Amino acid sequence: MSRRRMIYEGKAKILYEGPEPGTLIQYFKDDATAFNAEKKAVLDGKGVLNNRISEFIMQRLAAVGIPNHFIKRLNMREQLIKKVEIIPLEVIVRNVAAGTMSKRLGITEGEALPRAIVEFCYKKDELGDPLVSEEHIAAFGWASPQELDEMISYALRINDFMSGLFAGAGIRLIDFKIEFGRLFEGEMVRTILADEISPDSCRLWDLETNEKLDKDRFRRDMGGVTEAYAEVARRLGIIKESGQVADILDFNNSGK
Ligand code: TYD
Repeated sequence: MSRRRMIYEGKAKILYEGPEPGTLIQYFKDDATAFNAEKKAVLDGKGVLNNRISEFIMQRLAAVGIPNHFIKRLNMREQLIKKVEIIPLEVIVRNVAAGTMSKRLGITEGEALPRAIVEFCYKKDELGDPLVSEEHIAAFGWASPQELDEMISYALRINDFMSGLFAGAGIRLIDFKIEFGRLFEGEMVRTILADEISPDSCRLWDLETNEKLDKDRFRRDMGGVTEAYAEVARRLGIIKESGQVADILDFNNSGK
């Protein structure tokens, strides 16, 4: 594994060439960034937790018919995934106003939205990933009309499924960001869910107390970031009830 080729290094993950054609290895770093990488830190154990949480969610989504890039977890920080061509859009689904939506539209954080709202941001770091409309997507050809329909319909199904999954764990799914990719299979191209789903890319609040269990703890200097991610993993049953961040690191050393 030491001489494998790095394909891409992002803010929180690295992609390496996979063992077979059509596969990649996704490595989860402990690096955290926010505000278009203006704010940076290393949070010990975050990558390990996100690897596990993303694995858990992707497996469950696959089981309910949402195709995604996850193949299997390889070790503490790595998973084998299908190689796709990432569609250059961040798909955001919101149930409750928070973050930029609250700022942009002046809606108090925590106010439930009349229905789930899907938004798109164009993936362009230099521009700070601007919010774009379906008109922009169609006119500039970032996704085909069929891909756009599929992304919206998958996004809403993922929202329904994850809202239930988290509610069962005493967590309210406020909003989240997902990315899709094009999977080339011979002559066929399929749209599948890619990237990751973790507390880095979701807003998760305790159902009773509204305590934040996600990356807002980092964005807003609240502390206890990895502890909150570990709490999410614990409540989802991914790690033991009593498991601490240090135990997770050990626990995963077994490779299973
Ligand atoms: P949003 O409120 O638009 O932005 P911010 O995170 O800057 O406040 O975010 C909505 C949700 O999508 C939130 O759970 C964070 C997630 N998200 C990302 O993971 N990455 C991103 O680049 C963006 C814009 C959002």
